[in-house]
Amino acid sequence: MAPHNLLLAILICSSIQTDLFHLQSAEASMATASLSRCQRKCGDVEIPYPFGIDKGCYLDEAFEVICDDRTGSASIPSLHGEVGTISISNHTLQYKKGQVLPLPFNKTGESMYGHSFDLNYLGNHYSISHTDNKFVALGCDFYAYLVDAETKDLLGGCASLCNRRDITPSPSSSCSGLNCCYMNFERDLRNITLNVDTINTLTKSWGCGFFTFVDKGFPLDKINFSVCDDVLYSVPVVFGWMVGNTSCGEATGEDDCICGDNTVCIDSETRNGYRCKCRDGFTGNPYVREGCQDFDECADQKDNNCGMKSVCINMEGSYFCLPSHKRILAMLLTLGKFFCIF
Ligand SMILES: *[C@@H]1O[C@H](CO)[C@@H](O)[C@H](O)[C@H]1NC(C)=O
Ligand SMILES: *[C@@H]1O[C@H](CO)[C@@H](O)[C@H](O)[C@H]1NC(C)=O
Ligand SMILES: *[C@@H]1O[C@H](CO)[C@@H](O)[C@H](O)[C@H]1NC(C)=O
Ligand SMILES: *[C@@H]1O[C@H](CO)[C@@H](O)[C@H](O)[C@H]1NC(C)=O
Ligand SMILES: *[C@@H]1O[C@H](CO)[C@@H](O)[C@H](O)[C@H]1NC(C)=O
Repeated sequence: MAPHNLLLAILICSSIQTDLFHLQSAEASMATASLSRCQRKCGDVEIPYPFGIDKGCYLDEAFEVICDDRTGSASIPSLHGEVGTISISNHTLQYKKGQVLPLPFNKTGESMYGHSFDLNYLGNHYSISHTDNKFVALGCDFYAYLVDAETKDLLGGCASLCNRRDITPSPSSSCSGLNCCYMNFERDLRNITLNVDTINTLTKSWGCGFFTFVDKGFPLDKINFSVCDDVLYSVPVVFGWMVGNTSCGEATGEDDCICGDNTVCIDSETRNGYRCKCRDGFTGNPYVREGCQDFDECADQKDNNCGMKSVCINMEGSYFCLPSHKRILAMLLTLGKFFCIF
């Protein structure tokens, strides 16, 4: 083909492809149009889909965010506290103010065996992230352990002892069994039972113990736990979240799986439910139809391994490296990917 014919062919081809593309995406943009009018911020907190504030803006009630516009604080009704950040890629919900559960003991020192608390408020879509949190028990003369309410599996436990002169709860920074103990756990938790029993080594205990999941990095010894009251104390905690109530395999139909284009579906470890993730080479919100867009690995050198001596060529979903002396070819290829393949 003579050069000007080639150019003409390219122009025609490219316009055909563009039209096809528009046809395919028309339906998708109609689906996302209604979401585009949604309020996506509450104070400083970004509220990405599947979370949302107004009706029609969230996936289902579990992801409804209550926004107090006056104070700019966001919360999820079923989880006590206040949302700090929502991460789509990590599937986490960082809470600034999570719940601390106080447990009054009999002040006269009578042992109160067999305390048990059902921590089942997480529902179907949330869990306590095991990578981000630990469980902390603060107080005197007891041991605490967690049990999976459904399987009855023991998940972990710890004991906290005190010296007689320690008369108010004061978490030591190490929290390793003196006035305070902690446990890590190996998988995300949701429907669990907390059991607390006194050990009975002291004739007088503090009268109160405190129990909570808390972000591993949070310095608990900064809080003065002197009053046995749950409204006074709150700590940061990280929840995991997932969508659906089936596995990826069962949610293959258009209506069942909400993962958008260029995504992969990942089964949840803890129960029925799944998560969506952008395919390698794509970035964005996998819960929105056209949320995952090509990620330009060539824009920043740290995102590719082409080095100084070659040219990085970004492609839809990937990239490749060409030696610099083939720069002209590289330019043609870059153009070519927008046009027809001859
Ligand atoms: C996601 O997790 C990574 C690794 O733990 C962390 O560095 C990053 O800050 C997290 N992103 C968000 C938005 O929470
Ligand atoms: C606390 O201890 C006292 C004295 O031993 C006992 O009479 C009382 O029933 C105990 N209270 C509770 C709630 O167990
Ligand atoms: C928690 O587990 C118990 C025991 O299996 C069950 O009866 C209850 O419905 C579960 N609660 C939730 C919220 O899943
Ligand atoms: C903790 O709070 C109590 C009551 O508010 C107070 O009496 C006590 O001095 C405080 N302790 C520390 C270490 O600040
Ligand atoms: C699963 O979710 C779908 C859609 O939200 C709902 O219609 C169905 O009743 C749910 N099934 C169970 C077992 O919760």
